Amino acid sequence: MSDVVGYEVRGRIAVVTIDNPPVNALGHAVRVGLIEQIDRAVADDAAGAIVLIGAGRTFPAGADIREFDQPPRDPHLLTILDSFDAVEKPIVAALHGTALGGGLELTLGCHFRVAAPGARVGTPEVKLGIFPGAAGTQRLPRVAGLDHALELIVMGEPIGAAKALDYGIVDEIIEGDLLDGAIAFAEKVLEDGTPRPISSEPKEGIGTPEQFAEVIQKYRDLAARRMRGQESPLEAIESVLDGLRMPYEQAVAADRERFPRCKDSDQSKALRYAFFAEREAAKIPGVGKEIQPRPVETGAVIGAGTMGGGIIMCFADSGIPVTAIETSQEALDRGRIDEAEMARRVALISTSLDYSDVGGADLIIEAAFEDLELKKEIFAQLDGVAKPGAILATNTSYMDINQIAAATGRPEDVIGLHFFVPANVMKMLEVVRTDTSSPEAVATGMRVARAFGKVGGLAGVSHGFVANRSRAPLVREAIFLVEEGATPAQIDQVLRDFGLPMGVLAVSDLSGIDVSWRMRQSLAHLRDPEERYVHLADRLCEMGRFGRKTGSGWYTYGDGGSLPVPDPEVDEIAAAVAAEQGIERRQIDDAEILHRCLYAAVNEGAKIVEEGVALRASDIDIMWQYGFGFPRWRGGIMYHADRVGLPEVLARVEEFHAAHGKLWQPSALLCDLAASGGSFTG
Ligand SMILES: NC(=O)c1ccc[n+]([C@@H]2O[C@H](COP(=O)([O-])OP(=O)(O)OC[C@H]3O[C@@H](n4cnc5c(N)ncnc54)[C@H](O)[C@@H]3O)[C@@H](O)[C@H]2O)c1
Repeated sequence: MSDVVGYEVRGRIAVVTIDNPPVNALGHAVRVGLIEQIDRAVADDAAGAIVLIGAGRTFPAGADIREFDQPPRDPHLLTILDSFDAVEKPIVAALHGTALGGGLELTLGCHFRVAAPGARVGTPEVKLGIFPGAAGTQRLPRVAGLDHALELIVMGEPIGAAKALDYGIVDEIIEGDLLDGAIAFAEKVLEDGTPRPISSEPKEGIGTPEQFAEVIQKYRDLAARRMRGQESPLEAIESVLDGLRMPYEQAVAADRERFPRCKDSDQSKALRYAFFAEREAAKIPGVGKEIQPRPVETGAVIGAGTMGGGIIMCFADSGIPVTAIETSQEALDRGRIDEAEMARRVALISTSLDYSDVGGADLIIEAAFEDLELKKEIFAQLDGVAKPGAILATNTSYMDINQIAAATGRPEDVIGLHFFVPANVMKMLEVVRTDTSSPEAVATGMRVARAFGKVGGLAGVSHGFVANRSRAPLVREAIFLVEEGATPAQIDQVLRDFGLPMGVLAVSDLSGIDVSWRMRQSLAHLRDPEERYVHLADRLCEMGRFGRKTGSGWYTYGDGGSLPVPDPEVDEIAAAVAAEQGIERRQIDDAEILHRCLYAAVNEGAKIVEEGVALRASDIDIMWQYGFGFPRWRGGIMYHADRVGLPEVLARVEEFHAAHGKLWQPSALLCDLAASGGSFTG
């Protein structure tokens, strides 16, 4: 008998318990055990109904992802739930924890579902490049209606028990002991002789695709917007539509062909890579489970500008009281803390002009101007007022945090917490470990990322840390390409076609091209005369073309508009700069644009890994994804380079090195891996 699926009879109810820690994944042994124990209950005269429940912290949380890359092994989950349809004893699934993917599909094979109040259900398969392939796309619409089913299947976000009840996915919410409640529910079904709903059977209210055209279009549009370029949501919709067009058996047969095609696609492989890369990013050598993060129950933010305002929201949204410090009342008043938002969270946010008001904070995040001397001053001041053990963090984009830490008498408590714009929206948080940061400080940074609903990734001190440093060469090449004859619109189109949410020059216009201009000016003394320089970007700034906020930059913006419009003047300016620099302008093909932009970033990424500034190449990929909106279905820039083949990437880098000089110096790691047949991401 199975050792991962248990059986007992309570009164006249058979209880089948899946016990496969940690999350009761529906691996092969569980599937075999399920068949055995359900058969046993069917044959058991003492049992009138069956309750199916998970031991430990959750109902099966999904399929066993480790089995993904292996050939499928019988029994398939689908066979199991199809067999439930013929079981004449009512089967009640009792849900707690997270019943996701195959876990939810299993419950759809059951006749009834009850749930603990904290249970969550969902079908996140599209996020792995597949769709709910054990008839979830057929059964869920019949249980929840087409609109709700598409919401779950296409968007992949889980919902809570209350919503699941509302959607008809759950029949009852059980307060108190779940098993007792589920048994009582089963007893009542027996007593009332409630008919068993069978979710593979045709159901009233489910019509033809034509009848549902509007709903279907809504989800096609949503998928195109939120997961642009990703195939799995569209495949999932097709699968659901099959269920409207044909009988259950035929639709399931169509799925059987569709599923392997999705699973074996490049996109699915990249999405699975991203899934594991995200988990990996949380692992930091030297900061194991034995390291206790410090509790963060109160926060403070220094500087309530663009970034500070967003960071204040992060605290408030997480229920952490926060004090905002500014230099003047006017600055606080014009502060970017939206007033309505502020009112809603007012109980959690307080403002002050006095540094001593942050004395009680567990975590202080500085987001003042990007100026090293100012930041050193602020940290010296904080050192004087912050309580012992407080974590002092800076949101600097480029400054040397070792120097900032050295301005305090407690450099071990100083880290970088680098947010992305907008700070309360973007999911990435780069946690910067200085030469002196304690493991506790780093652990606290990673914990704060989670508390803010973000993904933490570790970086070492370096100009731009990991994310901005690896992205800067892409922007640089885009500018050079305009000098050489491409238009901003052409470059941005190539990058968008590749999957980026926005073209890189349109992004520059949005955030202001003067920001990096000022930084270049402050670092002018460090400039290497042998390296090619972005003269064109300087020229636009000298002309006051700072981007969207001044009405023109790489594009022009008519009448305060937000839509970038190609501007022939940029072409004229570029031609003039090219003439001054002795650059011969030419037609540039799309492939060169893509390779120049991407491989410049990959080569820099390789240097970042080589220097130990990033722990692993996959961390760079996670940062691009959650910090810059790089398409998850591409895996990331480093993963993409591996797929292209490192010898080919290196050959291009060497070509560009020969043509454009020093900035293209190939990374030693890239050379080694290309020569040895290795890869960045395994
Ligand atoms: N804007 C971005 O895209 C971005 C992204 C990541 C990180 N950062 C970094 O975040 C920091 C802030 O950038 P921002 O864009 O929010 O700038 P900002 O100019 O919008 O805001 C800075 C705020 O700090 C206040 N301030 C200045 N000195 C202060 C002091 N001594 N005490 C208290 N408040 C003070 C200013 O009044 C201003 O409101 C910079 O270090 C920047 O590099 C910016």
